[in-house]
Amino acid sequence: MKSIKKAIIPVAGLGTRFLPATKTVPKELLPIVDKPTIMYIVEEAIEAGIEDIIFIAGRNKEAIEDFFDVSFELEKVLEKDNRTDLLQDLVAIRNKANFISIRQKEPLGLGHAVFCAKPVIGNDPFAVLLGDELSAGSIKTTQELVSLYEKELCSCVAIMEVEKESVSKYGIIDGVQVNKNTYEIKRLVEKPSQEDAPSRYAMPGRYVFTAGLLDELQDLPPGRNREIQLTDAMDMLAKKERMLGYISAATRYDAGDKLGYLVANIEMGLNHPQIGSALKQYIKQLKGNL
Ligand code: G1P
Repeated sequence: MKSIKKAIIPVAGLGTRFLPATKTVPKELLPIVDKPTIMYIVEEAIEAGIEDIIFIAGRNKEAIEDFFDVSFELEKVLEKDNRTDLLQDLVAIRNKANFISIRQKEPLGLGHAVFCAKPVIGNDPFAVLLGDELSAGSIKTTQELVSLYEKELCSCVAIMEVEKESVSKYGIIDGVQVNKNTYEIKRLVEKPSQEDAPSRYAMPGRYVFTAGLLDELQDLPPGRNREIQLTDAMDMLAKKERMLGYISAATRYDAGDKLGYLVANIEMGLNHPQIGSALKQYIKQLKGNL
């Protein structure tokens, strides 16, 4: 059995939902409390045993590569001032993985972005983590999917139940329940209308795939929004190989829009060792004033 050691993290998006903040700063570097969102994603991958992190980046995303590299001047100054604790978490994760960056030259869709990693993935199974959802808790979603893959030896993707009104925002599965948290996926549809949705089980952006997925992406024509869709390739794969959908037990934060991003900041802030109790106090006071 080949274990999951490689993860693809697409970071090519323009971040238009967060303009003007994202005009010159990649949206992946916007902080949740004191860590950029991409750091949470990379931590989740490393906790799942990933060794090679493959960023699929667009232009103007060099700051993400730099973030996971040594910052010589800053680190010398921190060392001199005995403040290396400020970067200790970052140094710990950057030493645990290789960071590989591949350019997606044109924004042709998520499926295309994933396919750009083929030269690094080869014939190995791999994980994909999208940046809008953050997984929290001691066992995060990617680790759950890797464990399921190791048991079942097939592609495994995270699913979650959403309101009927939200199905058109996600890739939706059609599946047969095999146990409490697991569905065998038969078909997938990218962002269906409420009428066409085969279920209310949506994919929040965590996947583990066999290398067969890349074969389906090769020569895949554009689908919804004239983009090469990951969901379309998954649909083809699910017809050839077993594919499981798994309802994760981890806590999730949707940081992909303004409200979700603020909520994620508050929730993570409440658990933060330095500001957690002060924030709790503030919220209590705020509630009294509302
Ligand atoms: C992408 C995928 C979709 C998935 C979603 C999760 O859509 O195409 O299948 O459910 O991510 O966030 P996007 O949000 O990039 O439009």
